[in-house]
Amino acid sequence: MTATVEEHFEATVAADQRIEPRDWLPDAYRKTMIRQIAQHAHSEIIGMQPEGNWITRAPSLRRKAILLAKVQDEAGHGLYLYSAAETLGADRTELTELLISRRQKYSSIFNYPTLTFADVGVIGWLVDGAAICNQVPLCRSSYGPYARAMIRICKEESFHQRQGYELLMTMMRGTPEQQAMVQEATNRFWWPSLMMFGPPDGDSPNTAQSMAWKIKRHTNDDLRQRFVDMSVPQAEALGVTLPDPLLAWNEDRGHYDFGPIDWSELKRVIAGDGPCNAERVERRRRAHEDGAWVREAASVHAAKESER
Ligand SMILES: [Fe+2]
Ligand SMILES: [Fe+2]
Repeated sequence: MTATVEEHFEATVAADQRIEPRDWLPDAYRKTMIRQIAQHAHSEIIGMQPEGNWITRAPSLRRKAILLAKVQDEAGHGLYLYSAAETLGADRTELTELLISRRQKYSSIFNYPTLTFADVGVIGWLVDGAAICNQVPLCRSSYGPYARAMIRICKEESFHQRQGYELLMTMMRGTPEQQAMVQEATNRFWWPSLMMFGPPDGDSPNTAQSMAWKIKRHTNDDLRQRFVDMSVPQAEALGVTLPDPLLAWNEDRGHYDFGPIDWSELKRVIAGDGPCNAERVERRRRAHEDGAWVREAASVHAAKESER
């Protein structure tokens, strides 16, 4: 009997079909998948903070409306993803607890501050751009509910990327001060964006298993290279310089070469010592506590409804 369900799992993955919540799946797959989806959900929710910081100071009604819509999209992404994790037996309250007690991670990029309004544009361009590179292949993840959530999320991420790029284009047509703001924000976000793809392949022990299970489709270094190749012409069109003197087209490889990444910085930020880690988690904790009465009221209401 056990052999039969295991065979079903293996055959489904091998045939590039989807594993669904009703199917038997190995414990290690369930655990890995819950961790991946939870970290992704946490990243969407924490990711609302750096840009949310600028909603009240957006320079026009149009920019405010765009930014509000974008930040609300990220909340929606978090909700789809927590729901996807629940189909694997995870409990959303527990996942939130793990986040606010700092026992579960989120993307380290959100531990950097947003110092000027140009950061809103650069985050859309580079951070949402890197997220798209990472996430488009996840639309083919072997876990059905996650793959389906990613399809809608990716459509919204491409709006995020475009709104950021359009904002930067507008600023680059503006005053020298505005152009300098764009360059300065690019300088701060370029390297952390490259770190979003995770450690180098040689230092990523779970990659092989995740690729075998088809919950990961490309290695970290492959995706990072794809992102660099995509970003260089975009930077040129924009008129900004990427802060890497070693960035150069390599005719033989057919890719851009780029300088070494400071992996000690990524390790430090992941370990909790980035510029904003404490602030981000504290704010999430407060929001969770402030929302307790809403959750209580909703469950009392639901109990009354089911009594009727
Ligand atoms: Fe998102
Ligand atoms: Fe986004």
